[in-house]
Amino acid sequence: MDLNIKVNEKDHLDIGGADACDLVDKFGSPIYVIDENRIRDNYNRFYNAFSKYYPDFKVFYACKANTNLAVMKILESEGCCVDTVSPGEVYTCEKLGFSPDRILFTGNNITDEELKEVHDMGVILNVDSVSAIKRLANVVDPNGLKLSIRVNPMVGAGHHAHTITGGVMSKFGIMDNEAVEVYQLAEDLGFDPVGIHSHIGSGILDPEPFKLAIGSTMDIAGKVHEEAGVDFEFVDFGGGIGVPYTPEEKALDIDHFAHENVKFFEEKLKEYNMGKPTMFLEPGRYIVADAVDLLVKVNSVKQSYRKYIGVDAGFNTLLRPTMYGSYHHIVDASKMSAPIKEEVDVAGDVCESGDLFARDRPLPEVEEGDVLGILNAGAYGFTMASHYNSRPLPAEILVNNGNATVVRKAETYDDLFRNQIIPDYLQ
Ligand code: LLP
Repeated sequence: MDLNIKVNEKDHLDIGGADACDLVDKFGSPIYVIDENRIRDNYNRFYNAFSKYYPDFKVFYACKANTNLAVMKILESEGCCVDTVSPGEVYTCEKLGFSPDRILFTGNNITDEELKEVHDMGVILNVDSVSAIKRLANVVDPNGLKLSIRVNPMVGAGHHAHTITGGVMSKFGIMDNEAVEVYQLAEDLGFDPVGIHSHIGSGILDPEPFKLAIGSTMDIAGKVHEEAGVDFEFVDFGGGIGVPYTPEEKALDIDHFAHENVKFFEEKLKEYNMGKPTMFLEPGRYIVADAVDLLVKVNSVKQSYRKYIGVDAGFNTLLRPTMYGSYHHIVDASKMSAPIKEEVDVAGDVCESGDLFARDRPLPEVEEGDVLGILNAGAYGFTMASHYNSRPLPAEILVNNGNATVVRKAETYDDLFRNQIIPDYLQ
């Protein structure tokens, strides 16, 4: 099994050398628990795999997956760069010490004000449309400004329809067949378009679509190079690299994946005589997904028409199972080696029937008071959490070699009212 699961001598779930049950005793539940070393390992495994075959390579961590400041600081210390999608994410990166040349901005449907704001922060922009290019030229001085353009490689893949970002149904990027014209337009406006970007989707374990996307992005880039005379300083293939969520799924052999893709990339560079631009990738999930578990406590076991294990978190805490039907492996952290006894539904505490972490999930005999580990919750877990049902957001705990630190305090009820104003006439 390729899932990141460790068990300690007490038969409890171990996260980065800390006992999951002790963490819940100490910090309460629900809590997101982050394993620092796993983040470092994931980043280094990924970076080393590609840079070994193509040394002029940079990782731009797609921070939408997890913007916890400690997580980002860990990646900053590793030398990682960041891909951002909003001025708020850019601001966060700059606050944390990422210099602007380590930040990419890949926004879509953004306003003139936001375009200017991120430009003024000095970061490199992956521009998503002709509209954005023209509007950018109106709000900043385009002369000599380096720019990258997002193209639709007409290849799409992803774990769910909502996460497929290439092809005719995708709102992202410019059309493949208008690329030459759009790069020329950017040049005519005075920009220096030095980059090309594509991103086909998220949660992809099959290497094939990546290869197709590299081929098609490079064919677009090659044509732009030949016909618009653009010399690319970098080619950015986005993110999307999946991780196993189920016990059956196999992790990608990242070294082999890197080797194959770099080989193909280099063939294409040669075919179009494009020199040696820097290669960018923007993994989010790969870096953080399996470095974080969500710990919850069982507060009710109910036999109705089905058997429900009720826990003290819901889709306000982790939305992925409800939003995408995503599988997250669940373990009884209080008795890791107990034999599987039955198939049960694991339900949250939100007042909606869709609030389920799992249906028909084989688990041991789970009892009230047990701690469950909902695994692989590091990517798009906390960042998609909400206040729905007026539940404060949970704490995040960082673990490093067994030492646990609160890196985000649990919210209080008063945080729910923050920024709300009752008008005088209603007082
Ligand atoms: N680059 C761009 C331009 C992106 O839009 C994304 C993700 C990434 C990189 C990183 O993709 P990753 O390597 O993490 O797959 N909320 C969904 C995932 C949405 C992904 C959005 N874009 C989920 O929970 O599965």
